[in-house]
Amino acid sequence: MKIRAEQPTDEKAIEEVIKSAFEHHPHSNQTEHQIVNALRHANALSLSLVALLEDRVVGHIAFSKVQINGKDLSWYGLAPVSVLPAFQNQGIGSALIREGLQQLKALNARGCVLVGEPEYYVRFGFTHSDSLVYEEIPEEYFMSKTLTDMAIPNGVVKYHKAFNSG
Ligand SMILES: CC(C)(COP(=O)(O)OP(=O)(O)OC[C@H]1O[C@@H](n2cnc3c(N)ncnc32)[C@H](O)[C@@H]1OP(=O)(O)O)[C@@H](O)C(=O)NCCC(=O)NCCS
Repeated sequence: MKIRAEQPTDEKAIEEVIKSAFEHHPHSNQTEHQIVNALRHANALSLSLVALLEDRVVGHIAFSKVQINGKDLSWYGLAPVSVLPAFQNQGIGSALIREGLQQLKALNARGCVLVGEPEYYVRFGFTHSDSLVYEEIPEEYFMSKTLTDMAIPNGVVKYHKAFNSG
């Protein structure tokens, strides 16, 4: 399996991976692919990686900047991450998350937040922190991870407006 940055020719395949990964997801309204398209269109897709198996796009992960109390503090949101159903549970999602976090550090990111199942994301060092507030979901599903020695900032987190797409 190979991981690399998305290229313009991957856009359709990325859309298909996201759509099929979220098709039966209980908390999805199936707009995740539209969010990624809107982020790309707004030039706000800070990092967009694909996982390839024999040149086929089988997984994707996106990161975009979040604001904390209305400010850019070099924190990012991981969303969405998707693996084609037939290729799930083979370590592809984990590899995309680990590689994405490494590449975020190279962008001088200070931290990363996400909305997801604690059971899954705790293995990558994400935990819920009372310092960061995201009001739209039960708090245990809002997780964060620092990427520097600095303390987690206090504040209300807001994702890019592309997350209202769809
Ligand atoms: C979540 C997802 C990206 C993980 O990718 P993956 O390649 O299947 O995951 P990996 O093979 O790296 O890891 C598999 C592990 O994750 C666990 N896992 C996968 N989805 C999970 C979930 N929603 N909740 C809890 N654990 C989950 C599996 O049980 C497995 O656990 P184990 O290692 O203890 O056996 C993928 O399953 C997917 O696309 N799901 C649909 C879309 C989605 O839910 N995206 C995340 C929300 S943004």
